[in-house]
Amino acid sequence: MAKFSQKRRRFLRTLIFALPGVYLLQRFFAVPAPKRKLVATVADAKIPQRGALVYRQQRFAIIREGAEVYALSLVCTHLGCTLNVTSSKLSCPCHGSVFDRSGDVTHGPADKALPRLSLQRDKEQWLVFLDGKLKA
Ligand code: FES
Repeated sequence: MAKFSQKRRRFLRTLIFALPGVYLLQRFFAVPAPKRKLVATVADAKIPQRGALVYRQQRFAIIREGAEVYALSLVCTHLGCTLNVTSSKLSCPCHGSVFDRSGDVTHGPADKALPRLSLQRDKEQWLVFLDGKLKA
């Protein structure tokens, strides 16, 4: 009986000292969830077929290619100017970089593709989110 009680006491003591340590380790090493900010709500019917809906002030465009809908940042990956959008390309007025409709570079000096914003379908509309590391 005394042996069982001693074991139990040791177990409880270990638990009491270990729990705060585990909690602190978890807090220290936990990767924070990426912050994302809702920047627009767009009705699906407004997005033209093979076209783009441009939100110049928020610096993104929503594009529909067949069944796919995606949102591209309009921030040039060279030095950050706002891109102009036509039906076939996105071009930078500052130094002449050109991107295709999927955001890939077709003409420099930019050397990185345009990042996509997160989209979430909510019934008949799209919620557009800016992820923490993206600028708009
Ligand atoms: S900022 Fe767009 S090409 Fe330089």
